[in-house]
Amino acid sequence: MDKTRDVAVIVGSLRKDSINRKVAGALAELAPAALKLSIIEIGHLPIYNQDGDENPPAAWTQFRERIRAADAVLFVTPEHNRSVPAALKNAIDIGSRPYGKNAWGGKPGAVVSASPGGIDGFGANHHLRQSLVFLNVPAMAQPEAYLGGADKYFGSDGKLANDGTRKFLESFMQAYASWINANSKP
Ligand code: FNR
Repeated sequence: MDKTRDVAVIVGSLRKDSINRKVAGALAELAPAALKLSIIEIGHLPIYNQDGDENPPAAWTQFRERIRAADAVLFVTPEHNRSVPAALKNAIDIGSRPYGKNAWGGKPGAVVSASPGGIDGFGANHHLRQSLVFLNVPAMAQPEAYLGGADKYFGSDGKLANDGTRKFLESFMQAYASWINANSKP
């Protein structure tokens, strides 16, 4: 049996009724049993300011420690103005510092973007990948996950109600489990 992996899930939206949060919930349900997904909240994190590195807010320290403890990092995000939402970029910056103590480094990553629109969050997905290269996060290349028209995928109970998307997300998580195993210590 595959080793159990602690997967930190970062949702790029702070919205109560977020589509991306629902996608993250569906991914947790569809993931192979060896992957334990938990959403790590980012909405409470004070805006990153390098001056804070000498005496960091407790929320930054806790966030950095939680990311450091994770085996893998999965990003599920909307697109804001063709890029990553500010709250997500803030979390990335906090986790990347202080200099030389990048909490993200080496964690096998994957990116899912979801939007009600037709460009499927492509801009956010790829801007995020740009940061992940710099942060030394090996991000799964294929399958890519761009979910367009994603507001239509979920029922009023917040559960995934689209069979094609369910199959795709299930195969995505199987591929991600293999990616994590291939990029982790045994
Ligand atoms: C958006 N939205 C959006 N959608 C998109 O496909 N491309 C974009 O560039 C943007 N830009 C954008 C900027 C800002 C400031 C907001 C608030 C929204 C719409 C966005 O996809 C939509 O609100 C989603 O529902 C957000 O995802 P959650 O919150 O449902 O997960």
